[in-house]
Amino acid sequence: MNFDLRMDGKVAIVTGGAMGLGKGIAAGFASLGANVAVADVNEKAGQETVNEIVQAGGKAKLYPLDVTKSEQFEQMVKDITGEFKRIDVLVNNAGIAAKADCVDMKVEDYRRIIDINLTGVWIGCRAVAPVMMEQKYGKIINMCSLLGFVALAGLSAYASSKGGVLQLTKTLALELVDYNINVNAVAPAYIATELTNNARTDKERFEDILRRTPKKRLGNVEEVVGPVVFLASELSSFMVGETILVDGGWTAW
Ligand SMILES: NC(=O)c1ccc[n+]([C@@H]2O[C@H](COP(=O)([O-])OP(=O)(O)OC[C@H]3O[C@@H](n4cnc5c(N)ncnc54)[C@H](O)[C@@H]3O)[C@@H](O)[C@H]2O)c1
Repeated sequence: MNFDLRMDGKVAIVTGGAMGLGKGIAAGFASLGANVAVADVNEKAGQETVNEIVQAGGKAKLYPLDVTKSEQFEQMVKDITGEFKRIDVLVNNAGIAAKADCVDMKVEDYRRIIDINLTGVWIGCRAVAPVMMEQKYGKIINMCSLLGFVALAGLSAYASSKGGVLQLTKTLALELVDYNINVNAVAPAYIATELTNNARTDKERFEDILRRTPKKRLGNVEEVVGPVVFLASELSSFMVGETILVDGGWTAW
């Protein structure tokens, strides 16, 4: 067993790497020595993240990417393999959220959430898996959510997308297991990022979240980066199709 978490020489893609959890994951991988592709639609924030990583002594590059566009994902894979000859880790992290009851939500808003959060993960795996299959090595980590396990009113689109990520993770894990590729996921509860701004500023909603969380607080970005690093390492080599809850105890009772 290799207990080393270092990622020197490894090439890792983090979608949605410009901000929030993706930014933390990109910085975490870079601090362990990986070459990190920060892949994001938000080029300005993505470049700032890359600059911060490089200033801290890490290796990172911005790849403008909309995860819903398969041709963009495939072009990025070509560009990265052209430069590095391999891709070791893919973190399908890009995601959005919106809260509205089903009857109040526009169909296009529902579709957008499914498109980015679920179809974007499928597109990413489809684009990167052939490279990993060829090299007979790979770690794919998908960003699920507590809402992939439990439901809350007003989150039908988001929860459906994340429930889909849970099943997609299991299915792809089975399709790729013979190629020495581990496909797993992490499922955080509420973490303090842009995505949860609304939930945190709505007093009633925030109190409800705290009441449901034995830890009595939101998680922080680093507390999600740890499990992602674990799934990117050899420490998790026997984990296949697993989704790890990182929920401060929400589902423990
Ligand atoms: N923050 C939480 O509490 C929480 C909890 C569970 C799961 N998650 C999941 O973690 C992931 C990251 O969430 P976050 O909190 O860091 O959100 P965030 O809003 O802080 O960051 C999301 C990033 O994804 C990028 N992005 C959005 N659409 C994109 C697209 N089409 N193509 C490429 N990039 C795109 C954004 O530009 C941004 O950089 C999401 O999948 C989210 O559902 C977050």
